[in-house]
Amino acid sequence: MEQVDKIKLAVFISGRGSNMQALIDSCAKADFPAEIVCVLSNKADAAGLQRASDAGIATEVVSHKDYDSKAGFEQAMLDRLSDYNVNLICLAGFMRILSADFIAQWPEKIINIHPSLLPKHKGLDTHKRAIEAGDTESGCTVHYVVPEMDSGPIIVQKSVSIEDGETEDSLAAKVLVQEHLAYPEAVSMIAKGLAKR
Ligand code: GRF
Repeated sequence: MEQVDKIKLAVFISGRGSNMQALIDSCAKADFPAEIVCVLSNKADAAGLQRASDAGIATEVVSHKDYDSKAGFEQAMLDRLSDYNVNLICLAGFMRILSADFIAQWPEKIINIHPSLLPKHKGLDTHKRAIEAGDTESGCTVHYVVPEMDSGPIIVQKSVSIEDGETEDSLAAKVLVQEHLAYPEAVSMIAKGLAKR
């Protein structure tokens, strides 16, 4: 079989890690151009850590609560990352906002998945806000991370329709299906040099 050059990913999580799992599943394919070398969580009880361990992936926990400052927390994350040859950081439900200093150390090498069609509905409670706004579609966005939250260049978007009677939960479930397709697609595009900023 043809060998594929794989870029090395660190995936940052804070919770259940279903997008991380989608990346794990894609990386398990021989022809997928990336591999996960490390999963880092700021929460020791994040369910995703077990999923990563089950897949044989190294895990790191750096709790923001153990540090007096954001700078200290971020330096600790950078120190842990230095043990791995990471090419790209994938934020997947990572619930800390990275500082401009941290982002500057990884120029164009941090991406995030967000559950709305950016630039609509930055921040939290996206599904509720999409429904309340009367939007007829929503979706998800994979984008480069820049200091301004949920504002970096877009790599992949996938949309779903919002039906009459749609609830926050039903919309979240539909969007999540698309997230699990969008994130591996974006990583693959970057690995192949097809997502230049
Ligand atoms: C996803 O909806 C993602 O778009 C958002 O946080 C959620 C994380 O879910 N940033 P999971 O941990 O990947 O299951």
